Amino acid sequence: MAKAKTYYFCQECGYRSSSWLGRCPECGKWNTFVEEVIQAPSAAKAATVQKTVVTSNPKLISEVIYSETTRIPTHCNEFDRVLGGGIVPGSLLLIGGEPGIGKSTLLLQTALAIKDKKILYVSGEESEQQIKMRADRITQSPSSCYVVSETSTQRIFEHIEAVLPDILMVDSIQTISSELIDSPAGSVSQIRQCTAEFQQYAKTTGVPVLLIGHITKDGSLAGPKVMEHIVDAVLQFEGDRNYGYRMLRALKNRFGSTAEIGIFEMQGSGLREVSNPSEFLLSQRDENLSGAAVAATLEGVRPMFIEVQGLVSSAVYGTPQRNSNGFDMRRLSMLLAVLEKRCGFKLGAKDVFLNIAGGIRVSDPAIDLAVVCAVLSSNVDIAINPRICFAAEMGLSGEVRPVSRIEARIAEADRLGFEKILVSKYNCRGLDKSRYHLEIVEVGVIEEAFRKLFA
Ligand code: TYD
Ligand code: MG
Repeated sequence: MAKAKTYYFCQECGYRSSSWLGRCPECGKWNTFVEEVIQAPSAAKAATVQKTVVTSNPKLISEVIYSETTRIPTHCNEFDRVLGGGIVPGSLLLIGGEPGIGKSTLLLQTALAIKDKKILYVSGEESEQQIKMRADRITQSPSSCYVVSETSTQRIFEHIEAVLPDILMVDSIQTISSELIDSPAGSVSQIRQCTAEFQQYAKTTGVPVLLIGHITKDGSLAGPKVMEHIVDAVLQFEGDRNYGYRMLRALKNRFGSTAEIGIFEMQGSGLREVSNPSEFLLSQRDENLSGAAVAATLEGVRPMFIEVQGLVSSAVYGTPQRNSNGFDMRRLSMLLAVLEKRCGFKLGAKDVFLNIAGGIRVSDPAIDLAVVCAVLSSNVDIAINPRICFAAEMGLSGEVRPVSRIEARIAEADRLGFEKILVSKYNCRGLDKSRYHLEIVEVGVIEEAFRKLFA
């Protein structure tokens, strides 16, 4: 038997050292080293991995056959959009997300929807009965999906040989282990080894492999960064668990844009596609309530209209409270400081709470103006007409700054029936206003917006 060696691995970045270190020289994190036993693969074991894969020969690039039609559609527009038009044969895909967000549901639902392909769904987390229970919630119609509860890659490859699937799905990479390595499932070297084995399988047979990955407390994918380098696409499934909305974002995609997002709603019978998020998010509005403003944001290339709710009240304690849901706290503090300086907003005497409706997290800076106006509206207790929306970033000196792709935002606002949109005046050069029905209000500084709304 081959001699077992032990190494220490940084659980953050996968750096390997022969002795324990307090601080990782690669990523600088403290106390991340864990001892793992590496066993040199015996020839017999290595052969079982090799057996299932066919070796490929060099070809002239002009002889390589490829067409867009070879992509496998998932029969789910939102998922296809994020993938860039379907699953690419031979690709290795990683879907990450917090526990309970719906990763297993998304994958199983996809497996059940693709009826014209043979799918092998391997779960290291659930038994076959549990998978069946979930499948029954999603759909009753027949499908060509095989399920197996398995945690060893060697046995998974044996099942693959028996089933010969067109697509392989694995839930989750952290529960799978390879017999070639002695460390426990979920350790850095196991994750790296298993991912590499699936990659080799995908690349040589052309069968796409979809992996589920857990994420750590701070939101990054558990396991070494090297895994993100190996896979072709990393998709993140996120959302607030208290709400039904789920967003699928591509953090990396070798075969498509990372700007696209897919939106779903978790229902009693699985995930439902939300093809028009704005209409949905704005439908539950009550008129004449102060503290609400609509932001015309873009998620990737998709316009998304979101309601921002602000609440300003007198501070009861010495230190005023700040709280925000779905919006960066530091950015909120900065915007409040701008308001204090420019609009006479008494920062030190007020509690401020901010909420983005629907539990959605927004990173588009174009939401700034809506945030500021929602706070001001609550402060003066005057409602903003619900047919007005906002699209601009705020500068530190109170200037209203231009944002990207303003035409797309205005066109969508027009389509949704808004009467007015407040934008930066620097965004309006060369803008053909006559093309839109709605009024485009140009503002240069925040005081101007304040006067136009509340004067
Ligand atoms: P799951 O896919 O198990 O999450 P993950 O694999 O990311 O940990 O989803 C779990 C949640 O989704 C659970 O709280 C129940 C809910 N759910 C529904 O609301 N409807 C459904 O049809 C299904 C299958 C799950
Ligand atoms: Mg799961």
